[in-house]
Amino acid sequence: MMNHSLIFARAYEKEAGGTIPASARPVFHLTPRIGWMNDPNGFSYYQGQYHLFYQYNPYDTQWDAMHWGHAVSHDLLHWTYLPAALAPDAPYDSFGCFSGSAVEMPDGKQLLLYTGVRKEGGDNGRELQTQCVAVGDGLDYRKYDRNPVLVAEDLPDGLSPYDFRDPKVWRMPDGGYRCVAGARRMDRRGVLLLFDSADGFRWHFKSILAENDGRFGLMWECPDFFPLDGKSVLFVSPQDMLPEGFEYHNGNGTVCQIGTFDEESGRFTPERHQAIDYGIDFYAPQTLLTPDGRRVMIGWMQNWDTCKNTGYEDRQWFGQMTLPRELSLRNGRLYQQPIRELAQYRSQPVEYKNVSVSACMNLPGIEGRCVELDLHIRPESAETPYHKFTMRFAQDDQYYSVLSYRPHESLLKIDRKFSGSRRAYIHQRRCQVASRRGEIRLRVILDRFSIEVFVNDGEQVMTATILTDPSARRICFEADGKAVMDITRYSLFQED
Ligand code: FRU
Repeated sequence: MMNHSLIFARAYEKEAGGTIPASARPVFHLTPRIGWMNDPNGFSYYQGQYHLFYQYNPYDTQWDAMHWGHAVSHDLLHWTYLPAALAPDAPYDSFGCFSGSAVEMPDGKQLLLYTGVRKEGGDNGRELQTQCVAVGDGLDYRKYDRNPVLVAEDLPDGLSPYDFRDPKVWRMPDGGYRCVAGARRMDRRGVLLLFDSADGFRWHFKSILAENDGRFGLMWECPDFFPLDGKSVLFVSPQDMLPEGFEYHNGNGTVCQIGTFDEESGRFTPERHQAIDYGIDFYAPQTLLTPDGRRVMIGWMQNWDTCKNTGYEDRQWFGQMTLPRELSLRNGRLYQQPIRELAQYRSQPVEYKNVSVSACMNLPGIEGRCVELDLHIRPESAETPYHKFTMRFAQDDQYYSVLSYRPHESLLKIDRKFSGSRRAYIHQRRCQVASRRGEIRLRVILDRFSIEVFVNDGEQVMTATILTDPSARRICFEADGKAVMDITRYSLFQED
C-alpha cells in the first residue's frame, strides 16, 4: 500500500513537471522532474534499462524533505521520468530518504538500500541516521517492514550515529551482499565501513575499510568502492576539504584513491590519490557496471559550495547530473571518457586544421550550446612558444565564459564570472595539467547549461554549470603568442 506522501508527490511532480518546457532544460543531462536535485542514487542496470534515482525535493528549488526521484534510460543520454520512488513517510525516515544505492536480487526484484533520517526528540533534535531497505519492480517500491536494517548499535565503538549514511551496495560472487557506508569519529573525521548480508535484509559489520587521517576533509560522504583494471578504487566526497596545491580545493571535494583490498582484514590500502573532477560543479559520484563490462560514473553536476548560483529566480528546476563517464586506469591515474554512446549523436562536423590563432578569432561554423569541440593546441614551433590560449564560449554581446591555458605554468582555467551570474560564488577554478611543451588536447562537451572538459584524453576533467541564456552561442579563440590549433566541432543531438 502506498503512503499518502508518495501519492501526493507523484501527482504533484507529474502536473508541475509537465509545465517545464524541454527548451528550459539541458538536452542530455538529467535535471529533476520538478524542484531540487542532489546526489545520484541507485545508479544501476536493471531489467534491460539503466535506472537513476536522485535526491529530490519536488516542492521547491531548495534542499528539503528528501524523496527519491527516478528516471530510466536505454543509452544513459535520453532519460524518461518515472514516478518518485520514495517519500519521507515512515517514522525512521520522516526527515528524509537520504542517499543510497540499488541492486538486483535473485528473485528479479530490485533492492534499494538508503539512509533513513529522523530527528531525535522532535524537530529541533539531531539527525539520527540509519540504513533502510525498500524492494520493488523498477516502478513501485515497498519499504521493508523491519526497517531500519542498520542502526547505531551496529557501529563500532566511537562512531557517531548522527553521521552514518550513503550505503553503496553490490553483490558478492557467493550470492551475498556487501555495502560500504560513510561514518565519522567524534572528532569529525570520516571513516568508511563495510557491512555484509546474506539476503540483503539482515546486515552485520565486517570491517573498517578506510579511514580519514585528517588529510582529506572531515566527514566522508557518498563512498563507492569497485575493482578497475586490476586495482581497487575508492571514491569518496569529503566535506570541509583544505586545498592542496591545485589538486584539491576548499569545501566539498571528491577524492579517488587507487590501491589494494585485503579480503581477510577487510581493509583497503591506498597507493595513490587524486581529485575526481577539477572543475567547479561536481560532487557525490556513483558508478555502475554496464552489461558489456564498462565502469560508468555519474555525478551531481553541482556542489554544496556553489548551489546558491541558481540563475534566474523563476527557474523551476535546480541541479543536473553530469554526462555519464567511462572509467579506466592508466599510468596510475583515473581516466574518464564521455560514454561512447555519445558519439552516435554527433552530426554536422566542421573541421579546421593548422589554424594560426590570433586575436579574437571566430571560425565560421564553430558555435553553439549543444556541441562537442575536439581541440588540439600547440606552439607554432619550439622556438616560438605562446603564453596563453583562450576560448570564449556561451558568448553574446554581454556575457561569456572562458577556458584558458597557460603553457608556462601548465594551468587550465575555467572562468564563468561574466556568464551572467548575480552571485559572488566560486566562478573560476584552475587545474594543473601534464606539461607537454605547450601541447594540449581538449574534448569539450557543451550542453545548454554546462561545460565538461576532458583534458589530454581524459587524464583530467573539469566540469562547470553555465546559466547564460542558450541564445549566447558564439565561440571565439585568442592566443598570446603563436599557437596553432586543430578543431572539430560536432552538433550534438542535432540541436545546434
Ligand atoms: C551528499 C549528501 C549525502 C546525503 C544527501 C542528503 O551530497 O549530503 O551525504 O545522503 O546529500 O541529501
